[in-house]
Amino acid sequence: MLIRFKKRTEKIAMGLLSFMPEEKEVKRLQDTIHEYEVNDNWQLFLWKEADDVLGAIGVCLDQGNGRAIIQHLTVTPSHRSQGIGKKMVQEVKKLYADRYQVVGNDLTGKFFEKCQEEAEE
Ligand SMILES: CC(C)(COP(=O)(O)OP(=O)(O)OC[C@H]1O[C@@H](n2cnc3c(N)ncnc32)[C@H](O)[C@@H]1OP(=O)(O)O)[C@@H](O)C(=O)NCCC(=O)NCCS
Repeated sequence: MLIRFKKRTEKIAMGLLSFMPEEKEVKRLQDTIHEYEVNDNWQLFLWKEADDVLGAIGVCLDQGNGRAIIQHLTVTPSHRSQGIGKKMVQEVKKLYADRYQVVGNDLTGKFFEKCQEEAEE
């Protein structure tokens, strides 16, 4: 299930975010997690199954254009290709459906489109 990121899970969240191609450097990772803590338009969620946190999905709310942009999307390597990425995208779409159009960006767009296509089949 999708849970909202809390500061006490900061280390786990940073570990997951580090799988993103642009989040390899520690300083960049620290800045990113800080932004999720202080900026209301940056919203991070973790995917939890039993007691394990297996994935993370982060959106940036573009209030002006009514869009929720998926900017971070990662699953722990041992649990990939089991549908967790798709489930996180679906849950985030449900969460924002009444207020925002959920979209991907340069990094997440390809996977996001794949999820869209499969949802329409
Ligand atoms: C991308 C990622 C989140 C997918 O998570 P996942 O739980 O393995 O995804 P799912 O099990 O729901 O879907 C797997 C499918 O997505 C495909 N896929 C993986 N990464 C993809 C990408 N960047 N673009 C398009 N499709 C992708 C897989 O080939 C697989 O295809 P199949 O179902 O036809 O075999 C995961 O691979 C990951 O954490 N990657 C590292 C972080 C990253 O690069 N994020 C940016 C891209 S979103």
